[in-house]
Amino acid sequence: MRIPEDVRKDIPLTGEVIYFDNTATSLTPRPVVEAMDEYYLRYRANVHRGIHRLSQMATHRYEESRKIVADFLNARFEEIVFTKNTSESLNLVALGLEHLFKPGDKIVTTPYEHHSDLLPWQRLAKKLGLKLEFIEGDNEGNLDLSDAERKIRGAKLVAVQHVSNALGVIHEVEELGKMAKEEGAIFVVDAAQSAGHMEVDVRKMNADFLGLSGHKGPMGPTGIGVLYISEEFFDTFEPPLIGGGTIEDVELDSYKLTEPPERFEAGTPNIGGAIGLAAGIRYIERIGLDRIERQEHKLVKRITEGLDELGVPWYGPRNLKKHAGVVSFNVPGLHPHDVAAILDENNIMVRSGHHCALPVMKKLGINGTVRASFHVYNSIEEVETFLGVMEELVRSLK
Ligand SMILES: Cc1ncc(COP(=O)(O)O)c(C=O)c1O
Repeated sequence: MRIPEDVRKDIPLTGEVIYFDNTATSLTPRPVVEAMDEYYLRYRANVHRGIHRLSQMATHRYEESRKIVADFLNARFEEIVFTKNTSESLNLVALGLEHLFKPGDKIVTTPYEHHSDLLPWQRLAKKLGLKLEFIEGDNEGNLDLSDAERKIRGAKLVAVQHVSNALGVIHEVEELGKMAKEEGAIFVVDAAQSAGHMEVDVRKMNADFLGLSGHKGPMGPTGIGVLYISEEFFDTFEPPLIGGGTIEDVELDSYKLTEPPERFEAGTPNIGGAIGLAAGIRYIERIGLDRIERQEHKLVKRITEGLDELGVPWYGPRNLKKHAGVVSFNVPGLHPHDVAAILDENNIMVRSGHHCALPVMKKLGINGTVRASFHVYNSIEEVETFLGVMEELVRSLK
């Protein structure tokens, strides 16, 4: 596969717009749409409860999708639970672990988290009288690992993002996972911005729980996410949702839950979504994560150089080895939304605002940023076009 040319051929929208909003959601390649079409048009049925052949086929493809996700994350089949998105996955973790906490227990996270990996812990801490502590870090998003070691000492749970959607910084999840493990703390990873862009290996990370969204890096549809639950928690994690599909036996006044993963998936799941996500992962694997990383790195290098030449301040680590394909910046004197609107007039789609990371914006003393974020189908020519528009914009302000 030629990068990015052959990927662009599979995604018609790449020929129509310059799409630099991949952190919010990615574009969809044809094989993903085709896999979902096939489900809806050829074997549309519910899973698990049917004897007829359409249901058998749907069940087979749904469970095959789970296996594809499991292999992708180096997890076991039973450890993969389908959810709606990362936000739901992380909320479920907080709810399902609630009974394990007692007042005074400590949760450690970072000041760079997306609201979806902050609010569930804040709420849990307030409700149960827990301590919520934050690992120190600088304005580029780099964590102070010796402070991490201090804070993680005695912690009950550590929750961190792999990659920041606001600053693009790649956090040292493996080191943090090791620290958590040594302390016997539960380790939760928000992989919303890393899955599909770089290796996410739950074993290497020592993750106990991990959430991701199918619609971002893995190029799947919206409405499908993953919650990885380590088998060590099969008996202690209390399913926040129960009912259809989660039981082995039911009496009028009692029930016995079935085995994972069904235990954690109440009701009819997003069957077409899971099949689409698996097709996205297969597509990503056909390209190869190393080539995806290399392409995004090339784009980040060029865009940051270009912004430096124009005197446009950008955020996140100057050390580009720690910088994923997400570049936040600001044009002095212009509101981020105005910059995004001007870029849109030039057919370039970027995101502007606080990116659901208000504490990050407050730490930097800004009201928001403009964010250009990449996937493997973005080209260096697109970055050059973007820089040309930015040059004109900066010149017009002088
Ligand atoms: C780091 C991070 N965590 C969590 C989320 C939430 O993902 P979703 O909106 O798919 O639930 C996002 C979304 O942008 C994110 O960037």
